[in-house]
Amino acid sequence: MAAFASPYSSSAYTVGLRGAMGGAGTGTVIVAGGDGGIGRVFAASTRTSWTRAIVWRPSSPSSSSSSSSSLGMSSGGGTIDEVGTDDAIPPPAHAAGGRDDVAVVVDAASSPPSTTSSSSSSSSSMPRRVKTSSIAQSSSIIDEDEIVSIKGWVRTVRKQKTVAFVEVNDGSNMGGIQCVLNIDDVDESTMAEIDKLTTGCSVHAVGNIVKSRGGKQSHELSASSIRIIGQCPGESYPLAKKRHSLEYLRTIAHLRPRTNTIAAVGRVRSILAGAIHSYFQAGGFRYVQTPLITASDCEGAGEMFRVTTLDLDDVDSLPRIRNEKTGIVSRGVDHGRDFFGKAAFLTVSGQLGGEAYATALGDVYTFGPTFRAENSQTARHLAEFWMVEPEMAFADLTSAMDSAEGMLKYVVSRALEECDEDLTFFANFFDKGLRGRLEKLVNTPFVRLPYRDAIMYLREEISKDPSKWQFPEVEFGTDLATEHERWLAEKKFESAVFVYNYPKKIKAFYMRDNDDDGGETVNAMDLLVPGVGELVGGSQREERLDVLVEKMKELDLNIDDYWWYLDLRRFGSVPHAGYGLGFERLVTYVCGIDNIRDAIAFPRYPGNAEF
Ligand code: 4AD
Ligand code: MG
Repeated sequence: MAAFASPYSSSAYTVGLRGAMGGAGTGTVIVAGGDGGIGRVFAASTRTSWTRAIVWRPSSPSSSSSSSSSLGMSSGGGTIDEVGTDDAIPPPAHAAGGRDDVAVVVDAASSPPSTTSSSSSSSSSMPRRVKTSSIAQSSSIIDEDEIVSIKGWVRTVRKQKTVAFVEVNDGSNMGGIQCVLNIDDVDESTMAEIDKLTTGCSVHAVGNIVKSRGGKQSHELSASSIRIIGQCPGESYPLAKKRHSLEYLRTIAHLRPRTNTIAAVGRVRSILAGAIHSYFQAGGFRYVQTPLITASDCEGAGEMFRVTTLDLDDVDSLPRIRNEKTGIVSRGVDHGRDFFGKAAFLTVSGQLGGEAYATALGDVYTFGPTFRAENSQTARHLAEFWMVEPEMAFADLTSAMDSAEGMLKYVVSRALEECDEDLTFFANFFDKGLRGRLEKLVNTPFVRLPYRDAIMYLREEISKDPSKWQFPEVEFGTDLATEHERWLAEKKFESAVFVYNYPKKIKAFYMRDNDDDGGETVNAMDLLVPGVGELVGGSQREERLDVLVEKMKELDLNIDDYWWYLDLRRFGSVPHAGYGLGFERLVTYVCGIDNIRDAIAFPRYPGNAEF
């Protein structure tokens, strides 16, 4: 485990509470209390329809491997056990997906809350539901005599004379579980179900987890019954065949998470997001949610999506700007009469709001969606992507680089620790050198290279054979292209590289002018990584009011639009710095996949907003 312990390991948090409180006149009691008011959150119910409680038990450092004597699913250093009465077997089809009676209870104390005992006591009568990931993780302590239930989707079915093999995946890991049904031992209704099983149908299987006789996985479910919950007609199911190209899968983005690749991306993405929050929270950063609708263009690049309630279908109805003196109506739309009383857009970055909070709370970060209306059809650009943007008061560019390096090393090490199975899959099918590359990122200091030196190295290299380069013209002032960035990271240094001190004229207005360097550069950095190119962009911010106003005028920005941003320099201004990490670029980097469109659930890019 890297330097930062998860803040979640020491305090309680509720991961959800659904359904159990519903219903007229129920006797559900929800009690919160415990250590310092936050140590325990637990729930009790006198309602007869209560069926399950999920209890999170943090593992103590000394007992992490043995804290679960059962097949509880493992999560963030603890186990989540689902206890209590489960659906009767066979479950009514209509209730299969409903979790109305699931209460989620989280307990940070080492002993389970006593109020769950009523549900635990009834657990003996019904099989406990287990996730397949926990079977893989707890294989050494499996109780082969316990009857458990598995719910998931069928991947393959093989029926032989005396035995049927049904591969079920519940999404919690890649391996899923092989359910083995001995035809002579199962009841009649299970026999009938076996004949109807198809790839993609959802099922509920019950049986014992036993050591596998086949070599493919360590354990299998020796199933006594199986029930279909949702049918899946093979003729029309788009994933009935095994292999599909990623391009094809993008056309069925609602079903593609059922494939190994996209499910693995989803799991890795989730671990990375959690790790990012852990890193900053443990470091005392506060999470600020900045608005998605904004009137300011943070990057000044004019690549914003407009937000309006004006009726664009009826152009004649649009309010036009009218010159009060002359009475002449121009073609320009009068945004004063639009919803927000001014032109509004989807934000390209949460930075400006982040700066406001950093200059009050000290260290903050945002982590949310951002939008860019650039017409890029590349494998690195999305029109909607998630950005992590820390902002630190009383900080300079070196602090920003240190933070970005520490954060990346931490989150990648968490992925290496927690996504072993998925990363092995990506290494086998997408990028053989994946693990070595990730381990190197974690263990090697990042290179820090002034922009002028980057240009020098590039010119040297390009002069050897300019024909190899799409953009051979490189000089001071050139905005580096992906091929330049990747050469620096992949060939020249074989490492993550911070390039810093960029020319002023290719960078955003808010970046701090370097005091030396002939007034030509700003205190900005980009982090370049092998396989991706730019992963992070950041800077020290211009905190001097007069210098900032001058820069904005030079760039033709409307000072009035930024009045509040300039106030941050008028009132208690401080040196401050921050950066933005493109989250999907991180996901592509960690998974070793080529296209950013596969790193987000439902990609948005020019010409595509399906799903
Ligand atoms: O370099 P950028 O434009 O920096 C900013 O937006 C700053 N306001 C960040 C800050 O200092 N708080 O974007 C930051 C990162 C890039 O390095 C890249 O990883 C990612 O966001 N990014 C994109 N990712 C996917 N699709 C796009 N169209 C992206 N544009 C930028
Ligand atoms: Mg950038």
